[in-house]
Amino acid sequence: MATGGRTVLVTGAGRGIGRAEALHLAAAGMNVVVNDPGVQTDGSGGDARVAAAVVEEIRAAGGAAVADTGSVADWADARAMVERAVDAFGDLHAVVNNAAIEANRGVERLTEAEFDDVVAVKLKGTAAVTHWAAAHWRDRHAAGDRTDRAVVNTASGSGLLNPLPGQSNYAAANAGVAAMTIVHALELGRRGVRVNCVSPSMVRTRLTRAVPGVDGDPAAVAPLVAYLVGDGCPLTGQVLSVRGTTVTVNHGWAAGARIATADRWTEPELATALPDLPMPDPFAALASALGGALGEAGRARLEAMIAAGLDA
Ligand SMILES: NC(=O)c1ccc[n+]([C@@H]2O[C@H](COP(=O)([O-])OP(=O)(O)OC[C@H]3O[C@@H](n4cnc5c(N)ncnc54)[C@H](O)[C@@H]3O)[C@@H](O)[C@H]2O)c1
Repeated sequence: MATGGRTVLVTGAGRGIGRAEALHLAAAGMNVVVNDPGVQTDGSGGDARVAAAVVEEIRAAGGAAVADTGSVADWADARAMVERAVDAFGDLHAVVNNAAIEANRGVERLTEAEFDDVVAVKLKGTAAVTHWAAAHWRDRHAAGDRTDRAVVNTASGSGLLNPLPGQSNYAAANAGVAAMTIVHALELGRRGVRVNCVSPSMVRTRLTRAVPGVDGDPAAVAPLVAYLVGDGCPLTGQVLSVRGTTVTVNHGWAAGARIATADRWTEPELATALPDLPMPDPFAALASALGGALGEAGRARLEAMIAAGLDA
């Protein structure tokens, strides 16, 4: 699978899982926009050195990267991130929506700001960056460009398989991201854009420092993300849970088939093992929900209906 030369925007790439993804993608030959305002876990403050340090690390290893310190929760900042990628590297091929904050509190004491801030970064931020990337890709597609494009969203076990007490804002935002993944996959497929979602669990970062027993390596998620953003990956509309070296296909909120490896996945191994797993087909699910098994002709009709609705 070809990876070199593609440009990827990774949000929240200054620390934790996003940082590991940025380093991995750069080492695979991709140009990386390292977005991170360097905020505290609750979204307060900010430090431009956080993104700059990852850019320095990538460049020192011979890779190509630029920093961006905008907030994904800000619609205009999200536009500027996409423009930064195009200005720096000539195009944008993929977005990894990874940024998140937390404000854990039981619903009885949860404040309006705590709810809004968490949802703004995780849920609105995912929509904002994908919106501006999709607008760029729509223009490229209209100009005849058929390059493979990809979005990888980030959900959480808290939100899908194991919603946690004290995280109604975070869990709801993450469940929303998984739902939005399917919607965006159905919408953007006609532009050659694949949209998938990874859902990490139990990874040791500053978000999980206080949770006993969480010892997962932040770098474990990166090979799967690299596979999903790579040119030639066939997957779209999938939510894949990652825990250590086990990757599980989600069917809505239910866990489906899984693959596991002893050490760390490589992209070629994932490319061989993952597409063989039974995966939900979002188009088929929609067709059957809309009135029965329509078959291939029905699928084409459904795609045309969706396109007409989106263009209206
Ligand atoms: N750590 C885990 O076990 C775990 C489990 C499930 C899901 N996740 C998800 O993985 C992703 C990364 O989490 P992490 O554990 O690496 O956390 P982290 O706090 O280490 O990293 C998140 C980064 O996002 C940045 N960020 C915050 N607000 C931002 C904004 N408005 N715009 C851009 N960047 C912003 C932060 O500055 C930070 O550097 C998150 O989406 C999280 O929900 C993590």
